[in-house]
Amino acid sequence: MDRIYLIGFMGSGKSRMGRELSKKMNIQNIDLDKFIESSMFMTVPEIFEKYGEDGFRKIEHEKLKELSEFENVIISTGGGAPCFYDNMKLMNKTGVTVFLNPTIDMLVYRLLRSKNKRPLIDGLGKEELTPFVKEKLNDRLPYYEKAMLNIDPNEVKTKKIIKKITKKMKPVKKA
Ligand code: S3P
Repeated sequence: MDRIYLIGFMGSGKSRMGRELSKKMNIQNIDLDKFIESSMFMTVPEIFEKYGEDGFRKIEHEKLKELSEFENVIISTGGGAPCFYDNMKLMNKTGVTVFLNPTIDMLVYRLLRSKNKRPLIDGLGKEELTPFVKEKLNDRLPYYEKAMLNIDPNEVKTKKIIKKITKKMKPVKKA
C-alpha cells in the first residue's frame, strides 16, 4: 500500500518533506490544501472567509476521502486535518501516517518567516504566536500522536525516515 500521509502542525515542514520524499521514493506528492484550492477555484483563506472554519473542515474531509483512494501517493495534509471528523482513522486505515514533530521554537521560527497565508494565525506577531502554538499544539497532540511514526524532521535524516516508512508499508499480496 503505497500511500503516505504527512501530518503535523503548521510550519512543521510537511510540504517540504512531501517534495523531498517524492523525489527520493519516486512517488507523486499531492498537497491536500492545494488539491482543495484547485477543485474549489478558491484559496484556503477565501474558503475560510466564505464558509468559516466549519465549512473548510467539511470540504477538507471530503477532499481527503477522495485522495485516500489514490494509489502511490504522498499526501501532505493541512495542520488541522487530523483533528476533525474521523480523518486520523481514515488515514491510518488507508496508508502510513507520519507525524512531523519539530520543537515549538522551530515551528514559531518557521511560521514567522513563512509567506503562506494562514487564516488561524493571520496578523499574529512573535509575542502572540508562541503561546498560540503551545496551546493549539497541546490540543492537537492527542490526534497527531495516533500516527504510525513520530519524527522530528530536524533530527532524523530523510534516508532514515524513508527506511521507517518502508518498514510500515504492507507488502502487496501476489495473486
Ligand atoms: C490549518 C493549516 C493550514 C491550512 C489551513 C488550516 C490548521 O495548512 O490547512 O490554514 O488548522 O492548522 P498548513 O499546515 O500546511 O499550514
